[in-house]
Amino acid sequence: MRNSVLEVARWSEQNMVSDGGAHDWFHIERVWGLANVIGSAEGAETTQVQLCAILHDLSDYKLNGGDDEKAAQMAEDLLTRLGFGDSMKTAVAGFLRASGYSRRAGQDRSSWSKEWKVVQDADYIDAIGAVGVARAFWFGGMRREALCSERQLLPISEWAHEIGGQKSTIAHFQKKLLSLRDMMLTKAGRQIAERRHARMTRFLEEFIEEWNVFHTLEV
Ligand code: ADP
Ligand code: NI
Repeated sequence: MRNSVLEVARWSEQNMVSDGGAHDWFHIERVWGLANVIGSAEGAETTQVQLCAILHDLSDYKLNGGDDEKAAQMAEDLLTRLGFGDSMKTAVAGFLRASGYSRRAGQDRSSWSKEWKVVQDADYIDAIGAVGVARAFWFGGMRREALCSERQLLPISEWAHEIGGQKSTIAHFQKKLLSLRDMMLTKAGRQIAERRHARMTRFLEEFIEEWNVFHTLEV
């Protein structure tokens, strides 16, 4: 069947550059599912939402030797081969060039199309909550980073300048993951992010309590 979203998904599963944990095919399936839920609540165009979600991590520059343009080119070639029209190709490749946490500086995302907003929210949501916690520790472990580089952790509300400069997975929560909830671009995305943020915060509060047990020792 030509023009099929499922055909794009099959091809992507076989061709994406997976890191085997944080950016694997199951991340794509979760973002695709989340994008469907958010997209239908927001009244976004379904095919574009699905294609952006399925193709959004086709080739991450962090995993492909630094080529920031590769994913968009691969997507354009694929959509051309499958007979998608120019406007769809432009929209999907444009999303692949514009989206992602590291590209956000200097962008006015409030002017983005509904479809781009939906998929960006879905991708951010998969970085928070229980799965987000698992992905972060997997990623930190892959990089051989410490769980936490402080002997004693302050309460989250006092983290601001305490651990931001340190390289550890706990520092990554402070630097990035705790701020994603406030970067949601859609109403439906914000509602889901709110629940996941609360889950992640609960985990961190318990982590802090267990980590700080050292301070009950009399040494
Ligand atoms: P994006 O694709 O939006 O740019 P990233 O590629 O930076 O996002 O992150 C992908 C996943 O890896 C997320 O779950 C994120 O939390 C995790 N991650 C990225 N950098 C780190 C890090 N330094 N420590 C722990 N987890 C990280
Ligand atoms: Ni992603």
